Amino acid sequence: MIATAKRLEGIGEYYFSQKLREIDELNKQGKNIINLGIGSPDLPPHPDVIKVLNEESVKPNVHAYQNYKGSPVLRKAFADWYQTWYHVTLNPDTEILPLIGSKEGIMHICMTYLNEGDEVLLPNPGYPTYRSAVKLAGGVCVDYDLKEENNYYPDFAALEQKDLSKVKLMWVNYPHMPTGQLASVEMYQQLIAFAKKHSILICHDNPYSFILNDNPMSLLSLDGAKDVVLELNSLSKSQNMAGWRVGVLCAAKERIDEVLRFKSNMDSGMFLPVQLAAAKALSLGKDWYDSVNKVYRERRAKVYELLDALNCIYSKDQVGLFMWARIPDIYKDGYALSDDVLYNSNVFITPGGIFGSAGEKYIRISLCGSIEKFEEAIKRVKNK
Ligand SMILES: Cc1ncc(COP(=O)(O)O)c(C=O)c1O
Repeated sequence: MIATAKRLEGIGEYYFSQKLREIDELNKQGKNIINLGIGSPDLPPHPDVIKVLNEESVKPNVHAYQNYKGSPVLRKAFADWYQTWYHVTLNPDTEILPLIGSKEGIMHICMTYLNEGDEVLLPNPGYPTYRSAVKLAGGVCVDYDLKEENNYYPDFAALEQKDLSKVKLMWVNYPHMPTGQLASVEMYQQLIAFAKKHSILICHDNPYSFILNDNPMSLLSLDGAKDVVLELNSLSKSQNMAGWRVGVLCAAKERIDEVLRFKSNMDSGMFLPVQLAAAKALSLGKDWYDSVNKVYRERRAKVYELLDALNCIYSKDQVGLFMWARIPDIYKDGYALSDDVLYNSNVFITPGGIFGSAGEKYIRISLCGSIEKFEEAIKRVKNK
């Protein structure tokens, strides 16, 4: 028998990859499960984006390998997008690295900076990929708890009590997934001061800033941020382009060059028409974001109803693609609620525990479903 590499020890298959198989099985048995789990936008990108892809892909000269640093057109579009929406000036030639989705960037960053045994601060609850990428790269995960009573912000006083001498990176994500918490300028200032004091690189993951939020913010907009911050962004959520796989890393030139040393050995760039269509998507104006958010706002009202039917407690100030809610005491944890609703009402809701131990008493509902789906889910839960 050939054993798998040690680095895979403790790394299971991604939760959703497993769960979707189970849901498929249940559907084959005729259950017709309503899946409110995954944050994959169900609406299409803007028609002009599809038009660019169509027009460009029929050209004969667009099929070759591309520049490892991405098309200059796409890099310029990202720079303009950051200037327009986040008021951050980035040099398109040196401070922007397009990615095949921001998820791969998480791995690239970990592989670029971590040696065996280096420690990484991770949000609990938080996006599970941070933990897997750190482990795969040989790093050691050190959780920092995000608590409801502290606005789901890092507790800097508690962090200062820890031995931070081996900490090299800190993953941060606002608007926060799964809790929907927005950042504040004060918290960001504290974060940058903390990173400078302890020589820690802050890796900020920022894919949700346009969803149900009128004031998108970049951590790079703070004074001195470029000294210590790498920021990931994505077209998956705000441009309805999750399957296209387009993201970006923004940082100082030195950081981009360092990550490129790793990334250029892993892939050979994206299909040029995809990059040009992505550039079009980045040029869309406020009307686009307003139209997307109008749909999510209507859906969110339905999710409130669903959460009320489940006797959950939640804040209405959340932003992003999900609603995060505390479960009622009758359930041991979010897994118990999720199983109950899956097996008895044929509705799938994500248990909060998959985002870390601090999420165990919570569930997360995605806004990526039609109004009809939410209405049917409410009916099923109420009629159980
Ligand atoms: C917090 C967070 N970061 C990153 C990603 C990955 O996004 P992308 O599609 O750009 O790889 C997701 C996707 O669900 C996410 O929730």
